[in-house]
Amino acid sequence: MTLARPVPTPDGPKKAGMVRLVDNENGQELALLPILTGTVGADVIDVRTLHGQTGLFTYDPGYTATASCESKITYIDGDEGELRYRGVPIEQLAEQSDFLEVCHLLLYGDLPTGSEKAAFEKAITYHTMLHEQINFLFRGFRRDAHPMALMVGVVGALSAFYSDSSDVDDPEQRAIASYRLIAKMPTIAAIAYKWSIGQPFIYPRNDLGYAENFLHMMFAVPCEPYRVNPVLARAMDLILILHADHEQNASTSTVRLAGSSGANPFACISAGIACLWGPAHGGANEAVLEMLEEIDTYDRIPEFLERVKDRDDPSRLMGFGHRVYKNYDPRAKILRETCHRVLDELGAHNDPHLKIAMELEKIALDDPYFVKRNLYPNVDFYSGIILRAMGIPRRLFTAVFAVARTIGWIAQWSEMHTDPSQKIGRPRQIYSGETQRDYVPVDRRG
Ligand code: SDX
Repeated sequence: MTLARPVPTPDGPKKAGMVRLVDNENGQELALLPILTGTVGADVIDVRTLHGQTGLFTYDPGYTATASCESKITYIDGDEGELRYRGVPIEQLAEQSDFLEVCHLLLYGDLPTGSEKAAFEKAITYHTMLHEQINFLFRGFRRDAHPMALMVGVVGALSAFYSDSSDVDDPEQRAIASYRLIAKMPTIAAIAYKWSIGQPFIYPRNDLGYAENFLHMMFAVPCEPYRVNPVLARAMDLILILHADHEQNASTSTVRLAGSSGANPFACISAGIACLWGPAHGGANEAVLEMLEEIDTYDRIPEFLERVKDRDDPSRLMGFGHRVYKNYDPRAKILRETCHRVLDELGAHNDPHLKIAMELEKIALDDPYFVKRNLYPNVDFYSGIILRAMGIPRRLFTAVFAVARTIGWIAQWSEMHTDPSQKIGRPRQIYSGETQRDYVPVDRRG
């Protein structure tokens, strides 16, 4: 099938041909379906009329080959290991940009001018404080509760305090909710940490940058001034940039699905946080550290890798593999360099777990089991080592990921609300349960 590829314009997918569905037994045409093409990447078969033409559904558990929406925000080429935010390669953003500038790019589609950047930074800065009463919510949790439980609970409860920005049909209220969520996530994550260690909550400061403010809220105490190490502030800013958005990953799809019902933005982001918590997704950075600590010494690496290859053993090489990247995750490459810079700055370059991670990576990249399955390090493989070196406890790693990914969730949620084809998400199924049968009274069962 040769597709005429019209020169796509950024205003949306273009029809690029038709595909015919034919019954393989009798050659009868079942359906004629349009092919749509975007600006770059895979074309799609538009199956919206498939059921109407044939009575058939498509079947794709895990959505491995299903485009759930049209988006202009992030593009990933899994084979080439490329990631672009609004067309800008992640390597250039990592090198030259900062997180709030990337937030503006993801949300509005372009890098801000000087005055736009200053206005955006000011608007975010002046939304970093929480309603004072929200502090009582934290005190309702056990001190040893997982920080992600607090993040899910507190973020979901924000609609009870900010009802003036919960109407999803009002663009102005969507914008205010977006700013509030971007601004308040670091404050919430830092308080979750302070609550767990019994220290006083630290208020945000308007004279600090976004990443610096987050680290200050995490590690300052009221008894003395605290200066954030600029190398660590820059490393945190970079970690936030690299985790900001990633196309239609599990948590972003969760946010879109929740948003498609008209749920308020705080509830949608809370749903995204809950999904990100899973070890197969954002919880992997915490699981990588657990894995490195379980391996503990060089000589135990081969034994661990044998367990990972054993189909009867549930062990996985955490921080490796990706649904889309069948090449090196470009974010892992950048974080690998950052890892060395942070550990050198902290005089921790002999970190035993970093050494094990480097050796694990070297062995796995040559091991046929992993090579055959295109299992390369992903964004989570090095992030945990950097975060731990910065003094962030392992159970807060995924909360840091959630702080970063909030802009991606918000940008995708906002895009969904301005998409004219948007409707409530409602997948179908293939049913393989009981056919119809009658009710049996209890005295005639068994
Ligand atoms: C993130 O989607 C995103 O964009 C996510 C993310 C983002 O920014 O939002 O990039 C962030 O979630 C990164 C991924 C973090 N997760 C982990 O590091 C956990 C470990 N990795 C996996 O569990 C797994 O690789 C996934 C979940 C990431 C991807 O799984 P897939 O694409 O569904 O692949 P699969 O489970 O079908 O595995 C294919 C094969 C299987 O072997 P066979 O059955 O063919 O013999 O590869 C094997 C799997 O057993 N495999 C692994 C493995 N990952 C896949 N074997 C060992 N270790 C692994 N990590």
